Parts: sequence; C-alpha cells; structure tokens
Amino acid sequence: MKKLLQAAVVSVELLKPAYLLLTVDTGENLEVSAGQFAMLSAPNVFLRRPFSVHDAEGAKLSFLIKIAGAGTRGLAELKTGAKISLIYPLGQGFALSAKKAVLVGGGCGIAPLLLLAKQLKNKPTVILGGRTKNDIVRAAEFARYAEVKITTEDGSLGVRGLVTAELQELSAGHAVYACGPEPMLKALHKLAAEKNFELQVSLESVMACGVGACLGCVTAIKKSGNVCVCTEGPVFRAKDLPW
Ligand SMILES: Cc1cc2nc3c(=O)[nH]c(=O)nc-3n(C[C@H](O)[C@H](O)[C@H](O)COP(=O)(O)OP(=O)(O)OC[C@H]3O[C@@H](n4cnc5c(N)ncnc54)[C@H](O)[C@@H]3O)c2cc1C
Ligand code: FES
Repeated sequence: MKKLLQAAVVSVELLKPAYLLLTVDTGENLEVSAGQFAMLSAPNVFLRRPFSVHDAEGAKLSFLIKIAGAGTRGLAELKTGAKISLIYPLGQGFALSAKKAVLVGGGCGIAPLLLLAKQLKNKPTVILGGRTKNDIVRAAEFARYAEVKITTEDGSLGVRGLVTAELQELSAGHAVYACGPEPMLKALHKLAAEKNFELQVSLESVMACGVGACLGCVTAIKKSGNVCVCTEGPVFRAKDLPW
C-alpha cells in the first residue's frame, strides 16, 4: 500500500558527471516489485518527481538519477542526514516470467532493472546501452546478478551500436524487460513482433501527482482506451500499446 514517508538521506554518490545514486532510509520495510516507483520531493521545485526504485534493502531505497533539470540538480545537492518526503511504492511493476529473461536498459532506463535482476529466479542477461561510455553506470553492480553486455553508439565502451543489435538471436522462449527512451522501446516492440518474444516496457510519462489524480500522464492502451501511466503502469505489455 502506498504511503507518504519522511526519509533520511543515507548517501548521495556522483557516479559520472550526469548520474547520481541517492540512498534514503524510509524507516519502513515496504514490499516493492521491480518497476514500481516513488514520487520524491526535491528541495527547489514545487512538484514531486518520479523515480524508479533502483535497489531496496529493508527500509533503505536507492534511486539512480540522471541530472536533467532543477529537481534532479536539487537532489544531487542533498547532504547526508537531510530529510526528504516521498510517496511510495507506486504503480505496477514488471510481471515475472519463467522464460529466459533479457533486461534492456537505455541510459537511465537501467534504473529499475537492478531490482528486477535481483528478483528474477534465474540469472538474466542485461544489456546496458548508452550514447557514450559516460552513460554506462553500475555495470559492476549488475554483474553480481546478471550476465552484462554493454553497447554504446560511439563505440567508446562495449559493442558499438544500438541495444537492438544484441537481440537478433531472441525467440519466443525469451521474456524481454525494457526501460529507456521511447524510440528504443518502439524498436524493441517491432523486433518482438518479428521474433515473437514477450516484451514488457516501462514508460516514462511526465507526471505531476503519481497517484491518478491529475490525469497528466494518460496514455492510450489498445483494449482499455486511455489509462494513467502512474497507476496502470509504468510497466505495460508492449503488445497492449498502440505502437
Ligand atoms: C515512472 C517514472 C520513473 C522514472 N524513473 C527515473 C529514474 O529512475 N531515474 C531518472 O533519472 N529518471 C527517471 N524518470 C524521469 C525523471 O522523473 C525526470 O528526469 C525528472 O522528473 C526530471 O526532473 P527535473 O526537475 O530535474 O527536470 P525538469 O526541469 O522537470 O525537466 C528537465 C528535462 O527533462 C525532461 N523530462 C522531465 N520529466 C521527464 C520524464 N518523465 N521523461 C523524460 N523526460 C523528462 C523535460 O522535458 C526537460 O527537457 C522517471 C520518470 C517516470 C515517469
Ligand atoms: S501523474 Fe497524475 S494522474 Fe498520473
């Protein structure tokens, strides 16, 4: 059940110029599914901002955050011990499948995939994709739970190219879980239709409330019409999206 919590900042670690790992102690050990998210208050903006749960250990939660604007800059400046308000856990996470899992993350889209790799019974493969090596973070942490492959568009780390190049061998025996930029998710959707594998995607709509009240995050679903990404998602089965 979602709660409004006051958490204490445990650490703020700058990973690469644009990424940070924020760990907070919520004081409550709530059950969380990989893919669920929290709305975090940031010091210098009015509205809370949504972030996927990257890792959860008891009452401690970690968020992998790409600095984008005022809110995320404010989070980067938090000091250990500072108090932060959050609403958590929100949304529907990934549905775990018995099939061989392949996790695909583009840039900060890797954020929800660490907890997923931990929650899957069998060791998955994870593909971390970025424009350059500066977009590849947490590879060593992923390697504790998954076989890691890296792709960069400029070839500065791992295999040169897009994440889709690593997925040509997939078949109906695979379940693919993805999060990242929409063009990447749409390319995966096309590939899933061609190769007949199962695909779940986490969508990143702009969100104001995170709890189904503002209707700012509405998206169309094939059978149900318009739904809120914050409550019906952010994870959807790609075949249900009108792409
Ligand atoms: C369910 C969900 C989970 C998310 N999980 C993460 C996560 O784990 N890590 C992470 O770094 N980011 C995540 N995001 C995106 C994150 O919420 C935004 O980057 C953040 O709100 C930007 O806040 P800001 O004040 O720094 O930037 P703003 O000043 O609000 O915006 C700066 C720039 O970022 C763009 N932007 C803002 N929100 C989004 C968004 N939702 N998607 C794409 N672009 C956006 C704006 O259009 C603008 O160009 C998630 C979004 C959703 C909906
Ligand atoms: S963010 Fe307000 S309804 Fe989804």
